[in-house]
Amino acid sequence: MRKTLCILVALVALVGLFFLIRDNSSDVYDDLAKREARRESQREANAFAEQHDLAKLAARGLGQAVPIHLVSQIDPSGDFWFVGIESSELGVQIPFEPGKIPDPPAETEPVHENPGFLGADACQSCHQEKHQSFVKTAHHRTSRLATAENISGSFESVGNRMQTADENVHFTMIERDGKFYQRVSFFDWQFEVPFHLVMGSSKMGESYLYWHGDQLFQMNCTYLSEVDDWINSPGYLDGDAIYARPILTGCLECHVTYIDHRKPPNHFTPGSLITGISCERCHGPGKEHVDFHLANPNVKESKHVSVPSKLSREQQMDICGQCHTAQKSPKDPRGFQFRPGDRLADHYDPVEGHDTSANSVHTSNQVARLQLSECFKQSEMACAECHNPHKPERGQTALFSKRCMSCHESEHCGMSDTLGERLAQNCIDCHMPVRASENLKVDTAEGSIFPPLRDHFIRIDPQATEEYLGAIKGDVSK
Ligand code: HEC
Ligand code: HEC
Ligand code: HEC
Ligand code: HEC
Ligand code: HEC
Ligand code: HEC
Ligand code: HEC
Repeated sequence: MRKTLCILVALVALVGLFFLIRDNSSDVYDDLAKREARRESQREANAFAEQHDLAKLAARGLGQAVPIHLVSQIDPSGDFWFVGIESSELGVQIPFEPGKIPDPPAETEPVHENPGFLGADACQSCHQEKHQSFVKTAHHRTSRLATAENISGSFESVGNRMQTADENVHFTMIERDGKFYQRVSFFDWQFEVPFHLVMGSSKMGESYLYWHGDQLFQMNCTYLSEVDDWINSPGYLDGDAIYARPILTGCLECHVTYIDHRKPPNHFTPGSLITGISCERCHGPGKEHVDFHLANPNVKESKHVSVPSKLSREQQMDICGQCHTAQKSPKDPRGFQFRPGDRLADHYDPVEGHDTSANSVHTSNQVARLQLSECFKQSEMACAECHNPHKPERGQTALFSKRCMSCHESEHCGMSDTLGERLAQNCIDCHMPVRASENLKVDTAEGSIFPPLRDHFIRIDPQATEEYLGAIKGDVSK
């Protein structure tokens, strides 16, 4: 009996040992296999990361390859590549081949000679005071290079993402080695486009342009000041990623001092660009004037320069009208041919129905609107009657109202009894109301936004009066 028990115990122990050994050895094999599998998947992950790490790829002049389940084809127009997916209407449009990155800005010689534009800094040494205040104006700031201090939108992990209404499409703003990129995540494909130029002083917002060789294009994401966030550029559909909209001469004529236009539609010489709207767009190219006064420091009379106040009223209006009118196309494809004293009509084709505030690019068409006003019709005023182009004066309502009162007695206003002293603080909101424009429609994941612009048709406007009285209700009696 004892013997049997012993054998049994020994047997159990043996079986146990067998299992123990077997288990152990299987553990060893499993471990090896698992480790190998892990190594393999790590290798795959590394290879995947290698193929997907946009920074590493970019260093080799490459972008991420398009996953095979996405549609990737050149548009029949031949102007851009399209990347999409069967299950969705959304799409990517880029002027460079998917899987590549945009070419760096071309280092080419200008095709045309610069007619003498220098930029505002060339005026600093002799016109210090004007220069100092001018560099703070919206004109000077309206275009600049895309550096950290010049881009208002956020690159921090909170705030650098623009989600579209489609969960598969979003944009991330990336900073790398002092350069800035919009990274597009379209389904499981990603690509990056570099910021090169900032357009807009950031009163309403900033749009961004980038170079692909000698071609300039607009970027999909814009910054909107009102919401302090990234949004789709005006006119873009939410969910698309459009980087193939060419920048035409007109856009630059209104927002930079000068650039050499190589050939239509959007070929320019990057090195010829003078950012900002400088003094010279209102006073003429400055080279001759500067050269003369540098060579003749004793001459106190100005030479080779235009002063708007010495021109006729029409000529003065035409200077501002280069940019503050309805959309127009230059007769000379080079652009930048208008000089102070010229007639606008000699340089631009006329536009139909130009006196509504809605038909202009995204300006509120100040020239034509002002011309509808009795103030304009029954006086000799031009834009400089109310605007000092050399100083930033935005938002100084009382100062502007003072300028109204250089021609009007506040007592003549029908609201003078109701508002008393207060009237003189703000003639503007009742007589030049701010109106949102259909032309500036911005599509966001939450709906459309229409940034407001001031209407220069000065008039009696019951609706604006009602709105203004509503807004200040409560402290009128004071
Ligand atoms: C080397 C000195 C110098 C530089 C640089 C210079 N100016 Fe002048 N500018 C003068 C002098 C001198 C006058 C005549 C005195 C005055 O009006 O201040 C003058 C006058 C002017 C006037 C007024 C003309 C008038 O008849 O009332 C304008 C406008 C002007 N300059 C524009 C510019 C612009 C734009 C630049 C830059 C592109 C510039 N200047 C650069 C020396 C200079
Ligand atoms: C070369 C084009 C161009 C010319 C010429 C031009 N402007 Fe402008 N102006 C612009 C642009 C672009 C802006 C918008 C700048 C921004 O906010 O980015 C602007 C903005 C303004 C503003 C708004 C400033 C602010 O801070 O809100 C005023 C006022 C103005 N211009 C008046 C004038 C007057 C007056 C003239 C003529 C003496 C004139 N402009 C000539 C292009 C031009
Ligand atoms: C006909 C001249 C004209 C053309 C063309 C034009 N703009 Fe403008 N743009 C203006 C003027 C004027 C304003 C200022 C509107 C205002 O303050 O009433 C402005 C305002 C802007 C603003 C908002 C600036 C701010 O913060 O207030 C941006 C951004 C902008 N333009 C970008 C562009 C881009 C990009 C293009 C070309 C694709 C373009 N514009 C074409 C004249 C023009
Ligand atoms: C948007 C158009 C515009 C820009 C930009 C501009 N000016 Fe003027 N400038 C004018 C107008 C308009 C007058 C006439 C002012 C008047 O009638 O009160 C003028 C007058 C002048 C005068 C002579 C009268 C005076 O006030 O002394 C000088 C000098 C001058 N500007 C220099 C400059 C300089 C330098 C810059 C750049 C730093 C510059 N301007 C930028 C439109 C402009
Ligand atoms: C250069 C002189 C001048 C300036 C500056 C001026 N106006 Fe006038 N304005 C006139 C004249 C002249 C008339 C027509 C006669 C009248 O009604 O007094 C007029 C008419 C008006 C009218 C009546 C319009 C109508 O259709 O009956 C209003 C309202 C008005 N101005 C408001 C303003 C406001 C607000 C400002 C400032 C933003 C201003 N004006 C700046 C000269 C000026
Ligand atoms: C009778 C006075 C008056 C005249 C003349 C006048 N403006 Fe203005 N303008 C104003 C006032 C007031 C504002 C609002 C300023 C503010 O709130 O900062 C303004 C604002 C602007 C703005 C900024 C628009 C915006 O929506 O923020 C531009 C651009 C402009 N004016 C251009 C012009 C041009 C170009 C002319 C000539 C065609 C002109 N102005 C003539 C009074 C005038
Ligand atoms: C609360 C809105 C409001 C403010 C602020 C305001 N106005 Fe008026 N204004 C009106 C209205 C409404 C009328 C028409 C009154 C009527 O017909 O009885 C008017 C009429 C006028 C007229 C035409 C008078 C006539 O009989 O032809 C002028 C000029 C005028 N305002 C100038 C000004 C000036 C200058 C200021 C600033 C000092 C100013 N307004 C501030 C609402 C306003």
